[in-house]
Amino acid sequence: MTESSIYCIIVAAGSGSRFGSELPKQFCELNGIPVLMHTIEGIRNACHNVKIVLVLNRSHYDLWHDLCNRHNFRSPELRSGGATRWESVKNAIDAIELPEGKSIVMVHDGARPIVTRRLLHRIIDAAMTCDGVIPVIPVSDSLRMLSTDGTSVPVDRGMFRAVQTPQAFDGKMLKDAYRLPYRDTFTDDASVMAAAGHRDITLVDGDPCNIKITLPDDLKIASLYLNK
Ligand code: C5P
Repeated sequence: MTESSIYCIIVAAGSGSRFGSELPKQFCELNGIPVLMHTIEGIRNACHNVKIVLVLNRSHYDLWHDLCNRHNFRSPELRSGGATRWESVKNAIDAIELPEGKSIVMVHDGARPIVTRRLLHRIIDAAMTCDGVIPVIPVSDSLRMLSTDGTSVPVDRGMFRAVQTPQAFDGKMLKDAYRLPYRDTFTDDASVMAAAGHRDITLVDGDPCNIKITLPDDLKIASLYLNK
């Protein structure tokens, strides 16, 4: 399989309500350019022939085109997002015409601007031989499980992993999985694949620097990592 059968959907249609600024976090400046441009460049630099589909809220198209002009940046093909992350991914994957034979579709959060070549290749290499791959990192905080009666119990954090993106899947399987009706538990693409019955999901080491920009101070942390 060549890189020409590899697709990457970058979802950036969220409003980022936890970030608390009028400008959604994916357009905020990080080391001189918008967060989203770092994300796209990270994928492009790691895999030159990957076909990228960028999902934006339609109301941000003009803003994005202005930013691209200002930074002399070539935008990937655009698709419009939906009310949930699931709907945003679905809009993009429905529009991708997969080739015959094996293809890989990756899905990456636009709000994760630090995606390294090493991480991407770890994910793609593993995705060649299984239904899906997700990068994970150990949890460093202690964990408790909440009950509906308001009590909580400690749980063994060694049994848990925090899940990152990019996640990579067999293209046809992911496209089929996205035909299922929406469920609240669909917080990422692996959860959609699991609901469709795909169990052959490989966990690979994620990267602690591959943070998702969520709060304003995350931009300062991301800037430190980028300068490293
Ligand atoms: O909200 P959260 O940070 O978990 O979103 C993860 C990614 O999904 C972000 O890059 C966000 O822009 C994207 N998203 C989307 N469409 C939505 C909600 C989130 O593309 N409706």
